[in-house]
Amino acid sequence: MTAGNTTSSATNSAIVTDYRAKTPGSGALFARAHKVLPSGITHDGRYLDPYSIHVGKAKGPRKWDVDGNEYVDYFGGHGAMLLGHSHPAVVEAVKKQMEIGTHYGSSHELEVRWAELVCELIPSAEKVRFTASGTEASHMAIRLARAYTGKDKIVRFVGHFHGWHDNVAAGATSHYDGTTTTGVPQGVTDLSILMPADDVSKTVKLLGERDDIACVMFEPSGASWGQVPLPPGFIQALRDATTKHGVVMIMDEVITGFRWSMGGAQKVLGITPDLTILAKIVAGGLPGGAVAGKRDILDYIDHAASAAKKREKVSHPGTYNANPLSAAAAVAALTLLRDEDLAEKANKTAATLRAALRQVLVEESVPWGIYGDSSTFQIYPNPSGEPLDPATFDAQKMGFAKLKGARTPALSGKIRMALMTHGVDVMGSPGGFVSSTHGADEIERTVHALRMTVRDLKAERELKVA
Ligand SMILES: Cc1ncc(COP(=O)(O)O)c(C=O)c1O
Repeated sequence: MTAGNTTSSATNSAIVTDYRAKTPGSGALFARAHKVLPSGITHDGRYLDPYSIHVGKAKGPRKWDVDGNEYVDYFGGHGAMLLGHSHPAVVEAVKKQMEIGTHYGSSHELEVRWAELVCELIPSAEKVRFTASGTEASHMAIRLARAYTGKDKIVRFVGHFHGWHDNVAAGATSHYDGTTTTGVPQGVTDLSILMPADDVSKTVKLLGERDDIACVMFEPSGASWGQVPLPPGFIQALRDATTKHGVVMIMDEVITGFRWSMGGAQKVLGITPDLTILAKIVAGGLPGGAVAGKRDILDYIDHAASAAKKREKVSHPGTYNANPLSAAAAVAALTLLRDEDLAEKANKTAATLRAALRQVLVEESVPWGIYGDSSTFQIYPNPSGEPLDPATFDAQKMGFAKLKGARTPALSGKIRMALMTHGVDVMGSPGGFVSSTHGADEIERTVHALRMTVRDLKAERELKVA
């Protein structure tokens, strides 16, 4: 099968015209939004040309925009909604907490219960410190690693995303050559050593050669929750080398935590990092994050432990750390996840979904790939139009440059808009997150939407099939 994709101007696109016709209320809200919000949005990942939908309601695996259009939702709150939207147990817990206080400015029982659950579920968690987001958890983990080792440099991998703070900004979604990104001083970027994620021997060698490295951090799924899978053995080799050279291993489980399994990716892999960062699911769909890990590293935030060692403690304030509403949602969600193994339920649904979507590509002779781990799916839309058989597509053989390095926002945007017009909302990569509430009906609707989408793309010559 040979094929080629081209992108054409959105102005004469039937896909864009249909999308606009179906979403006039979102268009009107965007007109207001862009006067007061840069690009009319509040997260770069929600950017869509000409505008993104404005949602008014979500429940379980579905959401509805302000025009009343219903979508099977795979955006999943950027991966936070493993239990689906507004799970009754989470709603109940948050409502109850709302009545008795949203911020005590004091310690409270729910934060203790929350930490106990994290320590029970996540293998590496001996102690935990809550933050208000994954970005904050990432920032704190790096600070702890630097304090613990007395070293400054961070090893990161090309395309791996760890939030938006300065230490991890360059090389995650752009600047894959390690140059700095707008607003981030070159000196800060120079503190990171950006390594390729396709050959672990280079990193192993680096760790043996240098003595200024505080930590190695990575997404255990591979870049962007598995968009670029890691080669087999990669993480174990990192574990061995970091242990040998006294470098802190930080596993970024902001996406994979509680999703890859109820004990995260580390439980599936059987590899225990020194520090783990968590967010999204950890707070039950409300804002929150956490750094968990070895007691002697977390002790750098501990007053008594630091005083006993006669060292200055690492500072960590944060107004919304472990706020009662997030703690209430988190305790309800993590308890359910544990008792009903909902991660496994979502994993099974996603495996069925991936197989069904792959079958659509085969039947429609579309040279794309469907892949992904756990309760996720990724679509490789083959932007350069190389010959590709969807039945045998293997993301492991593709490499970073194709899977993430050559993303084409125009084509991905059209795929997203066409899918939305047919009742499905996905992440921009494109790809998505399956929840424990998705089931056979959602799969059937998604299969139909993908079939209609590839036909729409063929109709406007965005997808040529030989
Ligand atoms: C792997 C990973 N790490 C860190 C973060 C940052 O988390 P937050 O958006 O809560 O700051 C994200 C967010 O998408 C993520 O996917």
